[in-house]
Amino acid sequence: MLDTNDAFDANGAPGTDSAPSADLPALACESVTMRFGGLTAVDGFNLRVPKGALYGLIGPNGAGKTTVFNIVSGVLRPSAGAVKLFGVDVTGLSPDRIARSGIARTFQNIRLFRNLTVLDNVLVGLHLRREANLAQAMLALPRHRAEETQMAATAAQLLEEIGLAGVSHYRASALPYGRQRRLEIARALATKPAVLLLDEPAAGMNPAETEDLMRLITDIRNRFSLTILLIEHEMKVVMGICERMTVLDHGDTIAEGTPDEIQRNDRVIKAYLGGGAVARA
Ligand SMILES: Nc1ncnc2c1ncn2[C@@H]1O[C@H](COP(=O)(O)OP(=O)(O)O)[C@@H](O)[C@H]1O
Ligand SMILES: [Mg+2]
Repeated sequence: MLDTNDAFDANGAPGTDSAPSADLPALACESVTMRFGGLTAVDGFNLRVPKGALYGLIGPNGAGKTTVFNIVSGVLRPSAGAVKLFGVDVTGLSPDRIARSGIARTFQNIRLFRNLTVLDNVLVGLHLRREANLAQAMLALPRHRAEETQMAATAAQLLEEIGLAGVSHYRASALPYGRQRRLEIARALATKPAVLLLDEPAAGMNPAETEDLMRLITDIRNRFSLTILLIEHEMKVVMGICERMTVLDHGDTIAEGTPDEIQRNDRVIKAYLGGGAVARA
């Protein structure tokens, strides 16, 4: 399997040269606010996700969930507040820089290189890691070639682990929807993240695919020593696999707690769960 234990040693959390401290949250948002013109999409958002957690972010459409992911992954710079990765401030760094610091994500609307093969899509993720050592690669060409071979082997191994080995030479666009979502996860894993952000991974999946996905998410959390933040509409998925979650509504945090606490929370029931989400669970 992939050696992900060096996710931080190899990348180095920005601004640090020591191992992350055990008591620091893997991911934290501190009073994060995002304004788009007159709209406050996220207002004073606080989050602490412990290392190794599988943490949920839920709420109705337009609540600000994807905006939080865009801020954490560097796509958006927040109007105020800070994002910290193992205590290190990464607010406003470029998406590339954030990816190299150990945060990877998937997208609500699948983003794959549709005309590339499944294998090449994973190689793109691995490539991102190599870029950090491009100077070394150029200075030592034989080592570079060895690395290319190594990367292809690593990509193949990753596809095997994610259950896509049999389709590695298919075009990404030829895969059924559920498998495209799986490939997006494989590509994210190829960047060797410490923290993985999944934006509605079960969207568009049938019940069997959703069951498989739940197993996959819990499985990769353990196997790749990940901390996972999951946005998901499918209540069965969130309540089934997340230990804790935060509920957003119109940019405000209306609740935080365990699945039991959230399901019994009056504000959550009124704003979200009462509106039919439970019926879908
Ligand atoms: N780049 C943007 N520019 C302007 N408004 C945006 C942008 N991104 C999101 N929004 C708005 O912010 C709000 C929250 O959106 P989003 O984070 O996508 O919600 P969710 O993922 O919870 O459904 C929505 O009203 C949305 O229209
Ligand atoms: Mg969204």
